[in-house]
Amino acid sequence: MKRIGMLTSGGDCQALNAAMRGVVKTLDNAKEDVEIYGFLDGYRGLIYGDFRMLTGGDFSGILTKGGTILGTSRTPFKTIKDPDENGLDKVEAMKQNYYKLKLDCLVILGGNGTHKTANLLREEGLNVVTLPKTIDNDLWGTDMTFGFQSAVNIATEAIDCIHTTAASHGRVFIVEVMGHKVGWLTLNAGMASGADIILIPEIPYDIDKVIEKIEERDRKGSRFTIIAVAEGAISKEDAKLSKKEYKKKMENYPYPSVSYEVAAKIQEKTGREVRVTVPGHTQRGGSPCPYDRVFASRLGAEAGKLILDGQYGFMVGYKNREIVRVPLDEVAGKLKYLSPDATIVQEAKLLGISFGD
Ligand code: F6P
Repeated sequence: MKRIGMLTSGGDCQALNAAMRGVVKTLDNAKEDVEIYGFLDGYRGLIYGDFRMLTGGDFSGILTKGGTILGTSRTPFKTIKDPDENGLDKVEAMKQNYYKLKLDCLVILGGNGTHKTANLLREEGLNVVTLPKTIDNDLWGTDMTFGFQSAVNIATEAIDCIHTTAASHGRVFIVEVMGHKVGWLTLNAGMASGADIILIPEIPYDIDKVIEKIEERDRKGSRFTIIAVAEGAISKEDAKLSKKEYKKKMENYPYPSVSYEVAAKIQEKTGREVRVTVPGHTQRGGSPCPYDRVFASRLGAEAGKLILDGQYGFMVGYKNREIVRVPLDEVAGKLKYLSPDATIVQEAKLLGISFGD
């Protein structure tokens, strides 16, 4: 008999349920006798002992279901060692609940912050297996995270829809794509939808270069320009600021987000009509795409195998088209940026896409 705690933490994404189902199906298929303790709303559930016993039935019919059947919340790593408002030691509370329930291991699904806490729990002696989720695809140690491809599909569809209206009106359209501090999602959705300009955090932009591209398109007779802007995109001037200076600048930032700043600058310098669309959390919502259903199931199957083998302290990742086991301490605390020298960036440039650099 294995007693397994499971939780999903951080921002949700598509295929969380598919991944959990993959773990449970694998254990079930191996005729392993298991008890599953589903902690509710991420680490919060583990801290406060808020859980629900889950049976096979809970995992049936959820392959295609978006969100997470366990609920999630953000429990920032930087305050995890601080006592809560009632003085509770959160790390100690998680350990106590783990031991009280006599768990054999925790299966933790999450992104960057989640992995830092998962690694801390491992260091504290708990058995942990993790699965890499996030639409941002910024998790170290894996070429891809689940949720990413589904979000690419949604952001692509958003830009596709903008294309027709942009063409009718001859306007400049900006679509702001999520992705936190990295440009994976924007680059992929931008390329998939034929964006003319793609601005990502890893390649700071020069607004004059952005305008050059718009004017080049004008000269060639294109009536419109589509710009995919990552929510973390940054101008060359801002990229030169120290962390402190940048923080100060952002305190008095007059725009709702970077896309509106880019729009205002284009409008100011060219007099062109610019519109901004922000698909926002739609990118994390809805049913996982077929790719993510398969991918998350494969990752879940390997996590199940790790549990069967009694191998803990790993994230199940994906490297060179293979599912792999990555030691948690190699993953925690590192972001996977998109290199400006990556071949995909070079190929995008060959296609004539401008990065505003
Ligand atoms: O990490 C996933 C993500 O959707 C990012 O792309 C985005 O920056 C952030 O979460 C939004 O967070 P929240 O849902 O807390 O607003």
